[in-house]
Amino acid sequence: MSEPLVELKGVSKVYLDGTQALKNVDFSLNKGEFVGVVGPSGSGKSTLLHIAGGIDRASEGRVTLFGRDITGIPEAHLSEFRRGKVAYVFQFYYLMEDFTVLENLLVVAEMLGKGNVKKKALEVLDFLRLSHRLNHKPHQLSGGEQQRVAIGRALILDPKLIIADEPTGNLDLEEGKRIFSLFKSLNEKGITFLVATHNQEMIPFFSRVVHLKDGTLG
Ligand SMILES: Nc1ncnc2c1ncn2[C@@H]1O[C@H](COP(=O)(O)OP(=O)(O)O)[C@@H](O)[C@H]1O
Ligand SMILES: [Mg+2]
Repeated sequence: MSEPLVELKGVSKVYLDGTQALKNVDFSLNKGEFVGVVGPSGSGKSTLLHIAGGIDRASEGRVTLFGRDITGIPEAHLSEFRRGKVAYVFQFYYLMEDFTVLENLLVVAEMLGKGNVKKKALEVLDFLRLSHRLNHKPHQLSGGEQQRVAIGRALILDPKLIIADEPTGNLDLEEGKRIFSLFKSLNEKGITFLVATHNQEMIPFFSRVVHLKDGTLG
């Protein structure tokens, strides 16, 4: 049986300035999927990802996350509910520049008060082939390595769902493919993925692709 982790029903999004970014979108994401959201710049991909993961609100329609209707729940409850379930990876890695690779992971894990955080962080960084970079700062790393640190920061949260918005938008094709291969291996370990990209080369990695055009899902 398919188990929906995310369900959007009749979702529209109008930003404060009147821009309509999504129009009556129905979308569901099942456990175990690796779904690509493709479409030109400005078509609403980021908006869809933000609403699907509960970091922004729909203007109209209903949103269900992990079986819970999050449409009207207060922000504090929502961020608590998301924690340990959903993690984000972005095009620009948003690492803490004054912190080392290891510290970038530890800070996140310690905020959440998770058990033996150092052991876990070292394991995650080993899995990401970053063990030789533990004490480097982000500016000393390649783009692909920086993105792997950002993925490590997501993984240390033990997410069930990773939402990645143009995660390879700043990488060359080879590095980009390595990131997608990494996602694929994590997907095979049971993490569900929702990934926006406008890079056609990545389409073969997805188990399913949805197309956005002018805020409408095709
Ligand atoms: N915070 C915002 N306020 C106003 N308009 C926005 C905002 N964020 C995005 N938009 C607009 O919404 C539309 C969809 O944007 P976005 O979801 O970022 O698309 P994509 O990720 O596909 O490039 C675009 O027209 C964009 O300019
Ligand atoms: Mg975008």
